[in-house]
Amino acid sequence: TTVYLNGAFVPASEAKISPMDRGFLFGDGIYEVIPSYGGRFVGFGPHIDRMHSGLAQLSIDPKLSLADWQHIADKLLADNRAELGDNLGVYFQVSRGTDTKRGHAFPANIAPTVFGFAFAIPSEPVADKAKATTYAVVTGQDLRWQRCHIKSTSLLGNVLHYQQSYSQGAQEILLFDKDGNLTEGAAVNVFIVKDGVIATPPLSHKLLPGITRQLLLAILAKHSSIKVEERDISEAEVLAADEIWLTSSSKEIAPVLYVNDKPVADGKVGDVWLTVQQLFSAHKF
Ligand code: PDD
Repeated sequence: TTVYLNGAFVPASEAKISPMDRGFLFGDGIYEVIPSYGGRFVGFGPHIDRMHSGLAQLSIDPKLSLADWQHIADKLLADNRAELGDNLGVYFQVSRGTDTKRGHAFPANIAPTVFGFAFAIPSEPVADKAKATTYAVVTGQDLRWQRCHIKSTSLLGNVLHYQQSYSQGAQEILLFDKDGNLTEGAAVNVFIVKDGVIATPPLSHKLLPGITRQLLLAILAKHSSIKVEERDISEAEVLAADEIWLTSSSKEIAPVLYVNDKPVADGKVGDVWLTVQQLFSAHKF
């Protein structure tokens, strides 16, 4: 496979980064994951906007424009589609760069390390109850830091929470803050449905502003009359929901059928999910 590293497209085996890179030593960087199907990206502009926003908050400037990122991403698809297939995610990572010594303060005058690669993702999710990839989740207290809106490469908190679910035989975890309100999952945003009304937690420092979440809210506002609320959601409400969905770039909108081994409503994929995944599939590009 061909990857992008600091201005060049090179075979993956030849891409080398110093162990003194602050991405490695401190997790001092930002990343992004953008899905594509048949060469078309979903939400490319919003993904790059979020990455630029994260980089600005860390005072890292790789000096690449939206058009530059588009060029890199298109070339990663072109160079890897024959080998990896038509459903590809593009991963970008920008770290603060490589220093000669280890010190917490931002070093002056080092160039950011910019890395990109393409990887195979599952085929495009379809609005079909029988074909939906469904999830079993557990619940837990959100023990991550207070800057979860930054898509930082420091993902240990998320990794530990994911493993917490995995070790219990589940595939995600619904996290709750100290006040008992839903934040998100280890690598997903969360929506619930009750009595035909869709709800999801409001954006804050407690969760990542997911692009799938953003696109879904925009599509619902434009193309449906279903009521949608961005508001605090308690654990009791989650446990009593008619439907629960996980959203992320590769999952799109994925139904949760079990929470802590108990079925969500009747334990079947819901009708609102079907409508909403249909709308997402029709309008996402
Ligand atoms: N995960 N919340 C967290 C903590 C995430 O890591 C992600 C994405 C999301 C959903 O965001 P989006 O809709 O923009 O994919 C929410 C990525 C895909 C990952 O780390 O692999």
